[in-house]
Amino acid sequence: MLRPLAFFCLTSFRLSAFKLLDVGAPRTGTQSMTVALRTLGLNPLHSGHHKPLRLPVCRYLFGNGSLDDAFSVLDGYDAAMDEPFMLIYEEAMANFPDAKFLLTISDPEHWYKNYVDLVQADGAGWWFNFVETFEQKCYDMASWNCSFTAPSEETKKECLKNYAAHNARVQEVIPAERLLVYNWSDGWAPLAHFLQVPVPDKEFPYVDTNSERIYAVADAYEAIGEAV
Ligand SMILES: *[C@@H]1O[C@H](CO)[C@@H](O)[C@H](O)[C@H]1NC(C)=O
Ligand SMILES: *[C@@H]1O[C@H](CO)[C@@H](O)[C@H](O)[C@H]1NC(C)=O
Ligand SMILES: *[C@@H]1O[C@H](CO)[C@@H](O)[C@H](O)[C@H]1NC(C)=O
Repeated sequence: MLRPLAFFCLTSFRLSAFKLLDVGAPRTGTQSMTVALRTLGLNPLHSGHHKPLRLPVCRYLFGNGSLDDAFSVLDGYDAAMDEPFMLIYEEAMANFPDAKFLLTISDPEHWYKNYVDLVQADGAGWWFNFVETFEQKCYDMASWNCSFTAPSEETKKECLKNYAAHNARVQEVIPAERLLVYNWSDGWAPLAHFLQVPVPDKEFPYVDTNSERIYAVADAYEAIGEAV
């Protein structure tokens, strides 16, 4: 159990156009999903490309920020994914009654290795110039007690336990008719059907590589200069 079940008040902020929250962990293919969703006509927000937009959500989850401020970053987007957006699913359920949820899954060992490889390739998080101390809880799944920069058997166990707990809890809390559990080998059909759009006549995009992510980090780094 990661966070206690709670009653979330409706905020005054309404995003009636918000359609889809990917509640899968980072490194479960969220970058490919961003491209796939664009092909399906959505305008998704991927947090890796927009570091400044993470902050109000981090502040809400781990600091003293409001939910209204957290949701305000979704304005203009109709889908969102990656940390920390994948953690605010209960709030999204309560506030966007028509929104749907997508749980991108990956084999746990594969997921863990992939994350370690990424973080180590990134050069030990050179882009994490935190504005506020609580932000440290808001990157690389530190809130799950993951430690990809200095992985040990103990932190790995803890991290994988929380990965599994998140995936299980999401499926407990989100009604089945609002949730698609998505495996990358599934391709377009279940996704298009779930979103009630035609199956595209295109190959399914796979852009989820370390180098893609490093480009994303570079975008995010530039955005910091512009927006923070
Ligand atoms: C919220 O937290 C920040 C530090 O993260 C602090 O500077 C600010 O005073 C706090 N605001 C309130 C209303 O408590
Ligand atoms: C995804 O589907 C493939 C093919 O059926 C299967 O081998 C794999 O274990 C599935 N992944 C997960 C995380 O369930
Ligand atoms: C992370 O570790 C701390 C310290 O051991 C513990 O109090 C906390 O419950 C752990 N968090 C999770 C999500 O497991």
